[in-house]
Amino acid sequence: MLDLVNISVRVGRKVILEDVTLHQRAGEVLAICGANGAGKSTLLKAILGEVPATGTVRLNGHDVATARPDRLAPLRAVLPQDTEVAFAFTLGEIVAMGREAGDFATSPDIDRAALAAVGLSGRADEDFRTLSGGERQRGQLARALAQVWEPVAPTGPRWLILDEPVASLDLGHQLRVMRLARRFADAGGGVVAVMHDLNLSAMFADRIAFLLDGRLEAEGTPAEVMQAPILERAYGCRITLNATPPQGTWLLPQTCEDLPVRPGVDA
Ligand SMILES: Nc1ncnc2c1ncn2[C@@H]1O[C@H](COP(=O)(O)OP(=O)(O)OP(=O)(O)O)[C@@H](O)[C@H]1O
Ligand SMILES: [Mg+2]
Repeated sequence: MLDLVNISVRVGRKVILEDVTLHQRAGEVLAICGANGAGKSTLLKAILGEVPATGTVRLNGHDVATARPDRLAPLRAVLPQDTEVAFAFTLGEIVAMGREAGDFATSPDIDRAALAAVGLSGRADEDFRTLSGGERQRGQLARALAQVWEPVAPTGPRWLILDEPVASLDLGHQLRVMRLARRFADAGGGVVAVMHDLNLSAMFADRIAFLLDGRLEAEGTPAEVMQAPILERAYGCRITLNATPPQGTWLLPQTCEDLPVRPGVDA
């Protein structure tokens, strides 16, 4: 279980998150959506205990503000939005860092399996910095997967915390990565993924939360929240939804024109 209760984050006088309360069960994928600057990455950092926040975050009952890092590391892995690597590590070394941060230190087979899962088999000896943008993103995902390889630990479910996991991926790899996330949850783990792609969110997530200016604007199943008024508020533009999808895709924005006044942006 992941419980966020009354989470607020302020930097100086700037309010970045205000009073966000969310509860997520393991076995589910939660997509966090919303405009640039809405607070999505900050919310993930609050889940990880990486920003000073008021309120409470509990992961499997552990208060992340006070839990020992070595207790949390085997329980949750993160794919940050920005993943620059400054030194000349190989892809294999990056993935091994994830495995060693978890409790799989003696199982290098996991590295190979994680690389295979993201379509990077046979690439472990390459300098990470020479990989393409999408390959680096998938390599970092392999690192996170290797950290929480079994979706359920003896002490409880494990969690994947992903910030825009498909941002630089082609269509096929977007679907493969979302399927990985889905399978992780179906096997008993928990997934929280910041997403800009609403169709993928609707296809793969159990629940979607929309942030607007640091507040939780809406939260629910895709059918409950993929509605024009909610999306128009979240993104500040007029959106027409095509709600007659083929299998999988629920809703497709057809037009997107700026509203005269963009709620939450200009107001
Ligand atoms: N340490 C900080 N100091 C000042 N402002 C910050 C800080 N961290 C975040 N912010 C501000 O908080 C807002 C939310 O940032 P955040 O990175 O959470 O947005 P986001 O929803 O992830 O956006 P994007 O879709 O562009 O990634 C932004 O306006 C950002 O400038
Ligand atoms: Mg972000």
